[in-house]
Amino acid sequence: MKQAGFWLNLALGAALCTTTQAATVDGVEVSDRFCLTCHGTDGQGNIGIDAPRIAGMERWYLQRQLEIFRDGLRGTHPEDLVGQEMQPMAAILTDNSIQDVLNWVETWEYKPAEITLTGGDTQRGKTLYQSCASCHGADGEGNEVMKAPALRGQNDFYLVNQLKSFKAGWRGFDPRDQQGTQMRLMAQAIPDDQAITDIVSYINTLGR
Ligand code: HEC
Ligand code: HEC
Repeated sequence: MKQAGFWLNLALGAALCTTTQAATVDGVEVSDRFCLTCHGTDGQGNIGIDAPRIAGMERWYLQRQLEIFRDGLRGTHPEDLVGQEMQPMAAILTDNSIQDVLNWVETWEYKPAEITLTGGDTQRGKTLYQSCASCHGADGEGNEVMKAPALRGQNDFYLVNQLKSFKAGWRGFDPRDQQGTQMRLMAQAIPDDQAITDIVSYINTLGR
């Protein structure tokens, strides 16, 4: 929890330094820096600390992730160090403040994700992706009924990290996290790291 305290101080400290676009967390006004300190300028993600883009991603999906982080179903596996950065940030949110934050995130503009991944075979990725399409959509557009988020438009480095995290059993480890568990089983069927690179390289071709 030492690290959590550090991050919290960083986030709240940064909150004092700016006056734009305030959101309310537990009745305390915090600035955009609270999320953007880590999620990058305008919420487009930050490869330096493995933080995903949240600008332009689906509200229902973001809401669920904030809830499961808050409730300790995600970001609490002892080896999931990156998830542990986010978990204490969500832990201080209430249902109301989650709605406030999501209203505010909806005002952030989506800017196309920069491609950072190299060495992928997009043809092989396309073949491997066919097993993902039933939930994530033929074009990676996401499917709310299946509770499966859009994959196209997300940062490639983050998709790779999450597939590795699911495959290692760090994300989706908690039996109460039904969707995460379902996805963990899917990721465990992906043969190896090269296959992950291939699939995500293919997702990069789907644009947005
Ligand atoms: C201390 C840095 C930090 C702060 C501050 C922070 N986050 Fe995060 N967030 C992360 C990291 C790192 C991840 C990736 C976690 C993982 O790999 O599982 C993440 C993941 C997420 C996810 C999951 C996205 C997905 O596609 O699964 C959401 C949603 C999110 N953050 C929203 C927020 C919101 C909203 C705020 C502000 C209230 C916020 N974060 C503040 C670091 C941070
Ligand atoms: C049976 C349905 C199903 C299938 C098939 C499936 N997924 Fe998922 N996937 C999900 C669900 C549900 C989630 C959301 C998990 C959560 O809420 O934490 C998810 C989450 C993800 C995430 C995390 C996205 C983010 O923003 O954090 C990635 C990456 C992903 N899936 C990739 C894949 C790939 C690649 C395949 C094919 C190899 C695949 N999925 C197959 C249901 C599925």
